[in-house]
Amino acid sequence: MGMGTVRLSLTTKGSSAACEILIKEELLSRLRASIESLLEDEVSSIVVITDSNVRKIYGNQLRRDLSKLAKTHLVSFKAGESSKTLETATILLSKLAALDLDRKGIVVSLGGGVVGDLAGFVASVYKRGIKYFQVPTTLLAQVDSSIGGKTGVDSEWGKNQIGTFYYPRGVLIDPLALKTLPNSELINGLGEIIKYSVIANRRMFERLAKSRLDSAEVLSRFIPECCAIKVGVVSKDPSEQNLRSVLNYGHTVGHALEAESNYSLSHGKSIVLGMLAEGWISRQLGSFNQDDYEEQQALIQSLGVSADLPNLDENKLVRLALADKKSSSGVIRMSLPERIGKMHTTKSGSFRIPVSTELFKRSLRYLVA
Ligand SMILES: NC(=O)c1ccc[n+]([C@@H]2O[C@H](COP(=O)([O-])OP(=O)(O)OC[C@H]3O[C@@H](n4cnc5c(N)ncnc54)[C@H](O)[C@@H]3O)[C@@H](O)[C@H]2O)c1
Ligand SMILES: [Zn+2]
Repeated sequence: MGMGTVRLSLTTKGSSAACEILIKEELLSRLRASIESLLEDEVSSIVVITDSNVRKIYGNQLRRDLSKLAKTHLVSFKAGESSKTLETATILLSKLAALDLDRKGIVVSLGGGVVGDLAGFVASVYKRGIKYFQVPTTLLAQVDSSIGGKTGVDSEWGKNQIGTFYYPRGVLIDPLALKTLPNSELINGLGEIIKYSVIANRRMFERLAKSRLDSAEVLSRFIPECCAIKVGVVSKDPSEQNLRSVLNYGHTVGHALEAESNYSLSHGKSIVLGMLAEGWISRQLGSFNQDDYEEQQALIQSLGVSADLPNLDENKLVRLALADKKSSSGVIRMSLPERIGKMHTTKSGSFRIPVSTELFKRSLRYLVA
């Protein structure tokens, strides 16, 4: 069953051009037309940045199609998070220069979040910034990382510690690209999809609770709503002053678990566990409505993601949570739900709720109990 074309537009204060988001099946086989429709000026040449896996599957097809618009080159790097470094960015920048990409050239990022973050970063600094497009091919990238303008690379002092805010001209999403995605990658997108429903859309949550959550085809029907939620939040608070923190639900505990496991626990599993723990914290604080709390825990527990984490180092997790961007002045802060579909605020309207170290530690014991 097709889903038609969904169009969303992300405009933020201070940015000149809007970022257009197109979601349509088979977009990938006709990428040239979509890109052309979003460009005002002529293009001198195109560089598609991708990784070694995605290149094998979609590289040639894309090059053939885009060549009809302008001379098109394909550059790739070894797939995987370990490539998301300044070194890879430097290599990519030299390749753009060697290909004589000028300011009328464009970059097309084809792949998951690793490619998107790297290619976006490269596009943002090459000759002080050139136009680029995001063509996300993982579920995580289609519902999350390709939207919102964050680019970056990892460094020895942490993940995503070097980066820029730089919006692509367009985000072109083809849900059919998920057909070739390994099933094990679905959980990363699924975690974010559940997160969106809890922070902003009860009906979507109810539909998720009735759906088969291990099928790319079923999950892809939720892509437009997820994108719409992220666009809504980001356009109201692009620089993460307050509201944008809600997108971080499940991520305070989640990121800490992910780091503590040395990234052997996937991001999706980490934030699913993070939502279990943070949901519990919100219930303890009396913020999360009891029935809604039980519904959330039941949906998450039905996924069968277990906290197979023996010997959690609580103090290390506390330190990690304190280093989280939402925390400040030595107090752990996180975004917490009030109902499914509505996030809690403090009396002064902040979405960053202070949580005592003791309660944080107890939530970890709740997870492994
Ligand atoms: N910028 C943001 O706002 C933001 C938000 C969330 C996450 N991220 C970043 O995203 C990254 C994770 O992204 P990811 O989960 O997409 O990982 P990824 O880019 O590593 O992709 C996962 C794997 O799937 C393969 N792949 C991608 N598309 C495929 C397809 N259609 N068919 C077959 N294989 C395919 C890739 O080669 C890779 O092996 C992290 O670095 C994270 O920091 C960024
Ligand atoms: Zn996430």
